Formats: sequence, structure tokens, C-alpha cells
Amino acid sequence: MNVLGIETSCDETAVGIVKDGQKLLSNTVYSSMHKHAKYGGVIPEIASRSHLEYIIPVIEESLGDAKLSWKDIDFVSCTSGAGLSGSLLIGAMTAKTLAKIFQKPLYSANHVLGHLYANFLTSSTLKGYMVRNNQPQFPILGLIVSGGHTQLVLFKNHFNYVVLGKTLDDAVGEAFDKVAKILGLDYPGGVKIAELALKGDKNRYKLPEPKVLGYNFSFSGLKTAVLRLAQNEIGEKYTFPSIKVSNRLNEAQKANIAASFQYSAIKSLINKTRRAVVQFKPKTVIVAGGVASNQCLREELSLVLNGNIEFPDVKLCTDNGAMIACLGFYLNKYKVGLTRPEDFKINPSLVM
Ligand code: KG4
Ligand code: ZN
Repeated sequence: MNVLGIETSCDETAVGIVKDGQKLLSNTVYSSMHKHAKYGGVIPEIASRSHLEYIIPVIEESLGDAKLSWKDIDFVSCTSGAGLSGSLLIGAMTAKTLAKIFQKPLYSANHVLGHLYANFLTSSTLKGYMVRNNQPQFPILGLIVSGGHTQLVLFKNHFNYVVLGKTLDDAVGEAFDKVAKILGLDYPGGVKIAELALKGDKNRYKLPEPKVLGYNFSFSGLKTAVLRLAQNEIGEKYTFPSIKVSNRLNEAQKANIAASFQYSAIKSLINKTRRAVVQFKPKTVIVAGGVASNQCLREELSLVLNGNIEFPDVKLCTDNGAMIACLGFYLNKYKVGLTRPEDFKINPSLVM
């Protein structure tokens, strides 16, 4: 069973092909991020225009990398939400058209759930990918940490899950991006915060740990605490504009703030994950989403869970088509989400 996955929920035009829900055959990603960076965030109109320009070349390249043609594809899986409506529409229109022309069954995939399925890839014909030896075993505890989502999910089986908790305000990746902005780093700032943090002291500043009940998260208070800390460091009141703060901070202050923020943000993810492991005793713990590529998160989580945790290859943490193709295999196997091309609908605010 070869599944072609199409993902266009944000700025990545991404297509991947996966065999039998476990073997990665191709993973082609074109990101329009360089076109958004100067605006400090993704501009929906620019993202959809870029998807329109690149979706067909990306599909062709992905088929080429997998050494397959359309006749070898058994079905198509396409992200229907959550995401930017204009961006989702380009992927959806393309998937509907190709499914109709080539007469392939079409499956509607949930982007957030898709992130976790990057962990089901256990072999690869592509060079340079680190994949797990075995597929995750149920019950599975999943931690999703991306630019738009932060949630802990407990799975009894495929498509049989409960969301234990989610963020009540900002997603953790969003908090990384906002703190990066305060420190004068380019958007998206997650990777740059992580790099800067390596040069800083995580214990230099004490930042508050969000007090949220149960398995929910909160990151907006931490982001505000970072702003107040920076304003205080340069001797200004809280009314001093955040946009002017970074020019007055020296490199050591920036590195220490980055390290202290990263440590606080990660601590709350780790504490809640550890509690869920103790309470629910999952067989496998998996992490997914853009922030799952953060080295500090990987090391600290591995430490507290004695290595009983799995992360996808860094190239499969941020948005990609392979995760949607992998999820597509299970959608077909469990008879979920099959949609006639003419009925395929996007849902920008789809939740898990
Ligand atoms: O999963 P993703 O590509 O998009 C969403 O579905 O949201 O995640 C993107 C997010 C951005 O906020 C980015 O800053 C963050 O992941 N990110 C990181 C790292 N790499 C990407 N955050 C912290 N450390 C990283 N190494
Ligand atoms: Zn994503």
C-alpha cells in the first residue's frame, strides 16, 4: 500500500509517500518561510500563493524520489485542518483533482494527529533519516508541541484517544517565537532561541512556572514575564515598548534570558508528561511537532523518563507530507475519513 500525503496547512508545501504505514519512500518540503520572515509571522496570502506555485512540482519531485508514478499510488491522504484556510484550500483542491483524475480513494487527515504519526515510520529508503526500530505500542502517550498546538493525548488504539490537556492560551512554539521577537531574533525564532540558550545560564533568572490545573498548559504568562524581566534589566518601566528592548540588551543578557526561558517552558512540558506517565503507565511515550526538534527538550525528557521516550527525526518534526501519508495508511485500515473528492471539506479550526 503506497500512500501519498499532501500537507499545506501553513507555510510548507509538503508531499510524502509512505509504504504500508511504516516505510518512508519520499518526503519533499518546500517552505515559503523566507518570504514571511521580514513580516515577523506567516502572511496567509503569501503562503497560499506559494502553495499554488509549488504544489505540482513538489508532488512530481516526491513521486520521483520514491521512484514511483501515479499508477503505483493506492490512495491519497490530505490535511483538511487545522490551519490557514487559503493554504488548506490549495492542498485540498489539488488532492480532490488528482484523486478524481487518477481514481484514487481520498482520505481527510487531521494535521495535529498527523504530527504524532511521524513516530510510526520504522524504515526508510531515503538517506539521512533516523527512524525507530519498532512502531509505538499502545497505550501510547503523545505530547504534541508545535507552533499552533500543545497537548497531551492518551491513545488506547488508533483513533481511540482522550485529550488529557492542552494549552489554555499560547502554544509552546508560539511562546518561543514571541520571546525571540523580544530578543530581536528573526521569525520563526524557536531554533534561534535554542542556539542562543547554549551560550547562556538557565539558572541566571528565575521565571515563574505556570500554575494550571490538571494536564493543561499555559505559556502566555511566561512570555510576559520574559518581557518584564528584559525591561527591568535595561532599567525601563513596563510601558517601554517591547520592540525597542533588544537593542538595549547585551549578548550575555540575551543568552541568559533565552536559556532561562527555554528551561522554564520545557520544565512545564516535562512535569506534566512525567505525571501522565505515572498515572496512565503508557507502553510508549512519543513526542511530535516543531518544538520536538529542541535538543534541550529531548535530553531533559529522556532523563526524567529513563530513556523511555521516542522522537521523530528532526526533519519529520516540522510540517511534512510523510506524517500525513503515514496517518493515511491507518485512516484506510480503520475505515476513518474516506471522502468523495467532491465532498472533501477543509476545517481551519479542526481539533483533535
Ligand atoms: O510543527 P510546526 O512546523 O508547525 C505547526 O504546526 O505549528 O512547528 C513550528 C514551531 C515554530 O513555533 C518554531 O519556532 C518551533 O516549532 N521550533 C522550535 C525548534 N524548531 C522549531 N522551537 C524550539 N526549539 C527548536 N529547535
Ligand atoms: Zn504542524
